This record gives sequence, structure tokens and C-alpha cells, in this order.
Amino acid sequence: MTTAVNAPNGPAIRVQGIEKSFKDVQVLRGVDFDVAPGSIFALLGSNGAGKTTLVRILSTLLKADAGTATVETFDVATQPQQVREAISLTGQFAAVDEILTGRENLVLVARLRHLSDPGAVADDLLERFSLTDAGGRKASTYSGGMRRRLDIAMSLIGDPSVIFLDEPTTGLDPQARNEVWQTVRHLADNGTTVLLTTQYLDEAEQLADRIAILHRGTIISNGTLAELKQLLPPAEVSYVEKQPSLEDVFLTLIGDTEDPDLTAPTGKEVR
Ligand SMILES: Nc1ncnc2c1ncn2[C@@H]1O[C@H](COP(=O)(O)OP(=O)(O)OP(=O)(O)O)[C@@H](O)[C@H]1O
Ligand SMILES: [Mg+2]
Repeated sequence: MTTAVNAPNGPAIRVQGIEKSFKDVQVLRGVDFDVAPGSIFALLGSNGAGKTTLVRILSTLLKADAGTATVETFDVATQPQQVREAISLTGQFAAVDEILTGRENLVLVARLRHLSDPGAVADDLLERFSLTDAGGRKASTYSGGMRRRLDIAMSLIGDPSVIFLDEPTTGLDPQARNEVWQTVRHLADNGTTVLLTTQYLDEAEQLADRIAILHRGTIISNGTLAELKQLLPPAEVSYVEKQPSLEDVFLTLIGDTEDPDLTAPTGKEVR
């Protein structure tokens, strides 16, 4: 596996004007954003917003109808092989083989990637993901969190510089989510660029350096958490203001709030 060399200071992922329709349904209507190297970028959107569609385009599994996208400077449409060598994809539904043990799953992927010592690669990843004790057990006996961790571990084989995580914690309990979050933070701390999709707004709040909201086919907002929060009116001085959560910002931006007082002070007075 080659490690792609990124252009100096260039984005690890660049998405420009991406459009995609399925029959007469236009899902992506011109999506634009950049992801800085080594950062965590969260793509938020409701069910059916097109998050998976975009991830599939960026990971070369699907062709866009219009627009361009590059990963580590490689064009996803014209240089798919180079893109594939630079990335890994952890899909919305786990790719773990339940009949195999955790270790066998890892060895299998390492073999598929033609690595020289698949057993050592597997043992190293089991250790890094706190799965050493469970490594000899069938994946079917794993908890949801363990399975997700194994899934992410499998996707790291070959040291991709960019990793796509499509809803990495859907269906996990809070503790398992925390474990996955720590894993993702650790990846970014070590220089991996992470693009994750999520419907959990607290996940984006916890993890992401930048958050983009995909709605009706375009990015309607893109910024840091602090920048997104500033999109709502400021607090009034004489009240203890309910700080807007990312959920407030999200629902307001997509125009889906039924609460007209969403941005109003909570009315709790300062003593
Ligand atoms: N292969 C396909 N053929 C036809 N329509 C599709 C196909 N893939 C996706 N779609 C449609 O495109 C839209 C976006 O789907 P997508 O899976 O990208 O959404 P999503 O944001 O990932 O949703 P979720 O949060 O439920 O995972 C949906 O209306 C979906 O039905
Ligand atoms: Mg999806």
C-alpha cells in the first residue's frame, strides 16, 4: 500500500460541486467542502440526506453525475486505484465475518492486502483495540462495541491516511460509543484524516474539528462547533442563557423545529 503524499497545506479531501441523482431523485445537488489533513470532519444529515451516497462517491464505489472530488490529491473519478490505496471505508453496516474469530478476520484482511506478516499485524491491532483476550473467539459472540472496534481495526490494515466512517456508532450503547470515540480521536491524533457521518449530534460535538450539515442535497452549514453555535442569536445578559446545543443549531438550520422559542432564554434568573 502506498502512502500518498499530500500537497503542502492542501486539503486531504476536496469536494467540489458533487451532484448525484438516482433516477429522477436528485440526492446531491452540488456539494462542496474541504477536509484538512489529520482532522476529524463530521457530516451531519437526516435519514436519506445523502451521507452514504457521498461517502460511496469519495471511496470510489459510486460515480458522481457532476463535480469533482479528490482524496490526497487523487481524483476519485480518474484515479480510483490511487484513492483506494490511500483510504479505508468502514461502512454503515459492519463488514465483520461472524463465523471467523476476531483474529481470523484481521488476518484475512491483512492477507488480502498482501502484507508480509498477517499474524503480527492482527496481534498488533487486537492489542491496540483492547481485543487481545477476545481475539480467539468468534465475532458472533462479540458485543456491538467490540464488533465495531474490530470493524474499524480491520479498516486500518495497511495504514490508510484517510478513513471514512459511515455512522460508526449507530446502535451502540453509551459505553461502546465512548470506546469508538476514543479510537477515532486516537486515529486523528496520529495524523489520520477522518470523515465520519453521523445522525448523533453529540457525536459530532464530541469528536469533530469541523461539522458540515447536508440538507436537501447541499451543505447548508460548515464550521467549527463554536462557529455553528454563533449562527443562533446571542444570549441576553440578564438571564442565564441556555447555551444552544448542536441539536438546536441543526434543527434551526434545517428549519425543522416546532419550538418557536428555541433560541429564547430559558427564563432562569441569575441570583
Ligand atoms: N442505489 C440507489 N438507488 C436508488 N436510490 C438510492 C440508492 N442509494 C441511495 N438512494 C437514495 O438516495 C437517498 C440518500 O440515501 P443515502 O443512503 O445516501 O442517505 P443517508 O444520508 O446515508 O441516510 P441514512 O442516515 O438513513 O443512512 C435516499 O433517498 C435513498 O433512497
Ligand atoms: Mg447512510
